[in-house]
Amino acid sequence: MINTPRTIRFDIFRYDPQDPQDKPKMVTYEVTEAPGMTVFIALNQLRETQDPSLQFDFVCRAGICGSCAMVINGIPTLACRTLTANYANGNIKLMPLPGFELIGDLSVNTGKFMRELAERLQLWLQPDGVESNIHRIEKPMDPEEAAKLYELERCVECGVCVSACATKQMRDTFVGAVGMMKIARFELDSRDARTAEDFYHVIGNQDGVFGCMTLLGCQDACPKDLPHMQQIAYLRRKMAHTIVSC
Ligand code: SF4
Ligand code: FES
Repeated sequence: MINTPRTIRFDIFRYDPQDPQDKPKMVTYEVTEAPGMTVFIALNQLRETQDPSLQFDFVCRAGICGSCAMVINGIPTLACRTLTANYANGNIKLMPLPGFELIGDLSVNTGKFMRELAERLQLWLQPDGVESNIHRIEKPMDPEEAAKLYELERCVECGVCVSACATKQMRDTFVGAVGMMKIARFELDSRDARTAEDFYHVIGNQDGVFGCMTLLGCQDACPKDLPHMQQIAYLRRKMAHTIVSC
């Protein structure tokens, strides 16, 4: 017996903030489910066959670029890694990630947020007064340190942890898990000359490690399974120790 494919009902947030006449609304669409269909594939099909004006982002379709993050049935996640088959009743509600500037419909400006975060937290390697010289022979890195750095470098800047964080939603100035993970990455890097005291001036406050309420939304939702709580706890202990020894 051949199974008839299901119809998936999508309720999608639509709003163009550039159009003064437009008002936020939910619009319903229906798509025939195909084997292995992801929410991303369904959205593409929708845009191609029903509504070319639907805005959402993607680049890689493989969970690597972080562009397709959105809220799917109340949970921030990547559309290209979410199967429609996961939703037994066939009803899927899509909202844009909260906490970011809305470009339109499901598209938000995570790039602006990440750039501002990088400038605010100085998220670049700061070696000790060494002039950059491309002719100098590279210094080998201890493989164990490289492996730890690699683990933290896996962040795809999707913004899911920011949207899943209740503290960030209540206090816009909170740096969020992505900011703290990136600080943890530079704190770990032996090539970076910044001291614990330098990092304390950046995240040793209520907008940084001492503002985290340990609700674990970031760790639960991160599509790359990064160890947020372990790193935030490590930084918090380090920053607390910095106050004591100051
Ligand atoms: S830490 Fe995880 S959830 Fe947060 S931006 Fe990076 S990959 Fe996305
Ligand atoms: S399209 Fe790149 S992560 Fe989904």
